[in-house]
This record gives sequence, C-alpha cells and structure tokens, in this order.
Amino acid sequence: MSDAPLEGLAVLPGRLSAAEQRALADEVADVIAAAPLFTPVMPRTGAPFSVRMTNCGPLGWVADRAGYRYQPTHPETGDPWPAMPQRLIDLWSELGAPADPETCLINVYAPGARMGLHQDRDEGTFDAPVVSVSLGDTAVFRMGGTTRRGPTRSVRLASGDVVVFGGAARLMYHGIDRVLAGSSTLLPGGGRINLTLRRVTPWTTPSPKPRSSR
Ligand code: SIN
Ligand code: FE2
Repeated sequence: MSDAPLEGLAVLPGRLSAAEQRALADEVADVIAAAPLFTPVMPRTGAPFSVRMTNCGPLGWVADRAGYRYQPTHPETGDPWPAMPQRLIDLWSELGAPADPETCLINVYAPGARMGLHQDRDEGTFDAPVVSVSLGDTAVFRMGGTTRRGPTRSVRLASGDVVVFGGAARLMYHGIDRVLAGSSTLLPGGGRINLTLRRVTPWTTPSPKPRSSR
C-alpha cells in the first residue's frame, strides 16, 4: 500500500487571516454561551471523551451511551442548536463544497485532550467533503488511509489552518495526538478549538429550467 496522501485531501495552512480567526473565535464563544459545552461519552462503555463539544447549524453530532448520531437539539438544554456563523457557510462554499453545510461540530481541547484515530462516518452521505478549521493552540493531527491499519503521517495544524477531506479522503482515518500548550494566544485561557463542517443528508441538484419555446 502506498503512503501517498489520499486523493481529495487538502491541508491549507493559514487559510484564515488573524482577523478572520479573531472574528470566528468571538462567534464561536457566542455559540458556546447559547449551547453550553457537554462531555460526550463512548457508546456502551460510557467512558468520557477528553474533548468537550457543542454544535451549531440545523443538526448536531452527539455521543452518549445510546450511540453516535445527529439531532436537531442540544442533549442537555433541549434547545435547537444556534445558527451557523455565515463566515463558515461562506468558507464551505469557497472551498467548493456542494449544497449547504448542515452541521458544525465544535470540539474544545483543554490541556491534555486528544482524539483517537477514527473515520467520520455517521453521515447519510459521503458525497460532500468534511471541512475542518483549527483555532488556538497547534495540534499534532494524525492522518491514515481508509482502513484502520496501515501507515499514518502527522502534520501540525496551527490556528487558521483548514483541512478538507473530500473524494477518496472523505473516509480517511484521522485523530489528534496532542495539542501544544501555549503555542497560540488566540483563545482566552489557551487550548484549541476545532470546527468540523459537514453535510449530513443527501441533497438534490435542481434540474435546469426548460428553455422557453419562443
Ligand atoms: C475530529 O476529527 O472530530 C476533530 C479533528 C480535530 O480536532 O482537528
Ligand atoms: Fe473526525
């Protein structure tokens, strides 16, 4: 097996300017104020994740003893998720992703938090890419292939970096080995925030209007 990057993977260092990162961090703080962070747990075992999470957009990803799923409301408050910042919808379409993103998962990494190697596969379509935005402290991001075994590589993701997993990379195994504490001053209190934009349901492309007969 080759360890060349998968087709459809794009790592875009510095995709967001410092001003865009600042504005986005403020918008994410507003989302968290409205939809408080919760600690997801592994299905069955109930073992807590080391990240805390919330979501914005029409759907949100949750993990509890019953499983992994998308739902339209916050698991603790029962409220609909806050609207997705327009800046994220614009980024998604600038990167060529189709239709509108339906969810933005917000993962908050305090010192010591990590994320095991996994695929994003709870969506009802894999035809749209996953778009992932890093804010705050630099992370060591691990990327594999589309099977759990096999070679992996790591890349550092700094604040403002964006990763797109489309095409063959849509089902790429990935995770966060560690976060380098104190590497950014963007977030008050330090740490890292990852925003993951996804399409959850298939979409239909409107068919072209029939040409006028005149
Ligand atoms: C994730 O895969 O859910 C998070 C990835 C990251 O934090 O960059
Ligand atoms: Fe993921």
